Amino acid sequence: MRQPLIMGNWKMNGSREEGVQLAKALADGLNAGSQEVAVCVPFVYVSDIRGALASSPIALGAQNVADQASGAYTGEISAAMLADCGVKYALVGHSERRSYYGDTSQSVANRFCQAQKQNVIPVLCVGETLEEREQDRTFQVVDEQLDAVIDAAGIEAFANAVIAYEPVWAIGTGKTASDEQAQEVHQYIRKRIADRNPAIAEKVQILYGGSVKPDNAKGLFAMPDIDGGLVGGASLDAKGFLQICHSV
Ligand code: 13P
Repeated sequence: MRQPLIMGNWKMNGSREEGVQLAKALADGLNAGSQEVAVCVPFVYVSDIRGALASSPIALGAQNVADQASGAYTGEISAAMLADCGVKYALVGHSERRSYYGDTSQSVANRFCQAQKQNVIPVLCVGETLEEREQDRTFQVVDEQLDAVIDAAGIEAFANAVIAYEPVWAIGTGKTASDEQAQEVHQYIRKRIADRNPAIAEKVQILYGGSVKPDNAKGLFAMPDIDGGLVGGASLDAKGFLQICHSV
């Protein structure tokens, strides 16, 4: 049985004080349950949020990680630095990174490998744009994004990784994929992994992201191949995010 995982992605929002208050409210309000909860916070607030979550089971995540181990890479944050600060998860290949900052499939694969080398669990984000979906290219796009990492890291690497399916057309738009639309792609991703290693496919958590809200979380999380959510906007509100966390 896969453990449900609910992750908040705060993106570039909030002040230090707001982040600490939000983290404290989550720590106070989270009911013990079968699920794991994590928050992916801005790099500069990692240590503050870690402090705020100190006595809570909520895990800490980062929103990206460098594709190199160390050295002259101005502005980058290495996986070793994240591990040093108590970070458990790092998103890699978020669509906002791919589209606005030029993260390529190759750099995403390198980020994934760097994270794993430092025991930071990579959360590989994949998903198609609206145009790609309308051209019936969803599976092809997801294949390409997955295969780049499988080729670089090996299928065994997915024993210690998370996948997030985030259709780009559903991110921040209020348009959620229907439960069935999301399940169809999740099932496809699991099958693609199973073709190479059925045991790993059975174990790997696949999260859905894209306008997850308190009122649609239950339906999505009830689908057999959806193991939780990667929540953007709705993770900035403690009450709403807790409701989502309690929907598994
Ligand atoms: P929204 O929940 O705001 O649509 O964002 C989803 C997302 O990109 C999470 O990584």
